[in-house]
Amino acid sequence: MQAQLLEQSTGSSVTKSVRNPGLSDHLRQRIAREFTPRWQQQWGGKFVLHGRTAGTDAVRLDGNDYLSVTGHPDIVSAQVAALRNDREFVIQSGVFVHGEHPARALEKSLAQWVGKEDGFVCQSGYAANVGLLQAIADPQTPVYLDTLAHTSLWEGAHAARAPAHPFRHNDPAHLDRVLLRHGAGVVVVDSVYSTTGALCPLREMVEVAERHGCMILVDESHSLGTHGPGGAGLCAELGLTERVHFITASLAKAFAGRGGFFTAPAELRYYILSSSYPNIFSSCLLPHEIAGLGATLGVIRKRDEQRQRLHAHTLRLRTSLSDIGYPIHQGTEQIISLEAGTEPDTMVLRDHLEERGVFGAVFCAPATSRNRAMVRLTLHASLTEAELSHVEAVAQEIAPRIKPWDWPIARRARAGAALEET
Ligand SMILES: Cc1ncc(COP(=O)(O)O)c(C=O)c1O
Repeated sequence: MQAQLLEQSTGSSVTKSVRNPGLSDHLRQRIAREFTPRWQQQWGGKFVLHGRTAGTDAVRLDGNDYLSVTGHPDIVSAQVAALRNDREFVIQSGVFVHGEHPARALEKSLAQWVGKEDGFVCQSGYAANVGLLQAIADPQTPVYLDTLAHTSLWEGAHAARAPAHPFRHNDPAHLDRVLLRHGAGVVVVDSVYSTTGALCPLREMVEVAERHGCMILVDESHSLGTHGPGGAGLCAELGLTERVHFITASLAKAFAGRGGFFTAPAELRYYILSSSYPNIFSSCLLPHEIAGLGATLGVIRKRDEQRQRLHAHTLRLRTSLSDIGYPIHQGTEQIISLEAGTEPDTMVLRDHLEERGVFGAVFCAPATSRNRAMVRLTLHASLTEAELSHVEAVAQEIAPRIKPWDWPIARRARAGAALEET
């Protein structure tokens, strides 16, 4: 009976052919408190993130393959060759990887590309952030995080048992004040914020960090490949690489692969291999993943034309959406968030877009704060003129129904502007 109730309130549609042992009352109470009201009242009994299935003619703005590298023949043949030839491969923890191992060659090439001495690849961007922070922070090291820094960075501070101090999003003056209270530590920012497409004022952040004797870590997940000379990232673009202590990145964005990366000075190699848990307690990447990522690096370095196209698409869509009245002022880069606010309003927005063949990704708590849910549109280089025009036409058509100018974020922006005028 209890299992049936749980199924109804969580929407589980798995056929009951297997009997499960009973769950604890504590867990059931937690689900009833934290999840069931959301499922039933906010989402109307359907999972908020799952709308329609995209057809082949859909405009897909829900991926992170910014430079459209998926399926590139160089990458595919490198992966296939590794699958065919790498029979000697030993599946083991990344900590054992050394010498002539292809993973070491990949680490060195990635590090050299971004302008750093050495680096580590691991299972994901999430693991990279957790592993690095665990190695460089501890309970005596305050970690200062932008409020919109990726969750994996917060989890890294948590794994290090370090005191985590938030500072206002993209506000170096506030970082300065928080630092005065808690002392030197590690400053943590994203180069491009994953929920808003906002660019970090990196130069100012570095200056504040330096003034307070802090180390600074920059998560370049959404700028590696897309920004900087040859795609080497935002630090490289701004000439800040030598002043930034650590660069991390997911290799599941412009690299469209599976993996994560972080840089570290060569002198820290064995210290990190002795203290970063994802490198120690989780297995290394597989040969075809390493081969694919190596080939992808070669492809990405040469994609200046795609980088330019991506930036042109970004400018065009940002301008037209904002002319229609969408409040997208929070960001400037290739991630465009349509922040409808509540989850029901966001589901309505998603449905309007998907009915017309435009597919973004719903983001809501815990990926955003409560009542700041959004449909996130991520652009890529190979969007065609017809696809861009279609997105603009759909945005125009649905605007009178969803009234983006009335979304909470738009009202807050107007209130802020009015306050500044007085
Ligand atoms: C800024 C940022 N850092 C880290 C990650 C984690 O990357 P991965 O998906 O490779 O674990 C993401 C992905 O969502 C991200 O957006």
